[in-house]
Amino acid sequence: MTVKNQAKNTALYALENRRIVAVVPAAGIGSRMQADKPKQYLTIQAKTILEHSLNVLLSHPVNFDQIILAVAPNDPYLSELPFLANPRICVINGGETRADSVLNGLKQIAITENTWVMVHDAARPCLTHADIDKLLAIKDPNGAILAIPAVDTIKRATNQRQIQQTEDRNQIWLAQTPQFFPVDLLRNALQTALQQGLSITDEASAMEFAGFQPHLVTGRTDNIKITRPEDLALAEFYLSKQK
Ligand code: C5P
Repeated sequence: MTVKNQAKNTALYALENRRIVAVVPAAGIGSRMQADKPKQYLTIQAKTILEHSLNVLLSHPVNFDQIILAVAPNDPYLSELPFLANPRICVINGGETRADSVLNGLKQIAITENTWVMVHDAARPCLTHADIDKLLAIKDPNGAILAIPAVDTIKRATNQRQIQQTEDRNQIWLAQTPQFFPVDLLRNALQTALQQGLSITDEASAMEFAGFQPHLVTGRTDNIKITRPEDLALAEFYLSKQK
């Protein structure tokens, strides 16, 4: 693949001393959960999924300067949550799609050359500090994401749900969050991709469209995105094992 646009070199970004901000998109409705409220407000071990996800960021020793939380406009559930009093949390309105919510968050960040952003889905409560550390350790100025190498055999389907072909799974990775980028690069990439009407389901794909090749960091299979009803029991099990 041709790389149109390599990121500036590491010296420019002074990776060691960068300022780090987090953006947490939490404005989805989670229709596939078939629950009576958005999935991030369902409870596991007496805490909402959103609280679990935020707590991992808030308790990380690197100290995210700011955690920008994108929620649905007029979200009726948020005000009940205790973390709102935390001065590092800044609540903003999300958008129509996840990418819109993330871009709204990025627009809140005062950009200096040395600012990086870690974007993490509210719906992934089982993230560990060790995984955050792995991302922080990557010195690639194109940014990095957590991902899992595919273990199942991957089929590409036709519109009629017949198998068109089998992909080479050795080259397939399943993207997770957090995803970690220089704020200015990600903001430009996301803005351009959305203006072009591209379907963007994670930050890395916007960076790819802009010509960057972000780094893949092997994550953990328990960093699941709660999506379907059966995922709740699994997340509860994983969280109980982390204690
Ligand atoms: O729907 P999906 O599972 O892909 O959502 C991933 C994350 O993006 C969730 O935390 C969800 O709340 C968030 N999201 C958002 N704004 C939207 C749609 C989803 O912040 N419009």
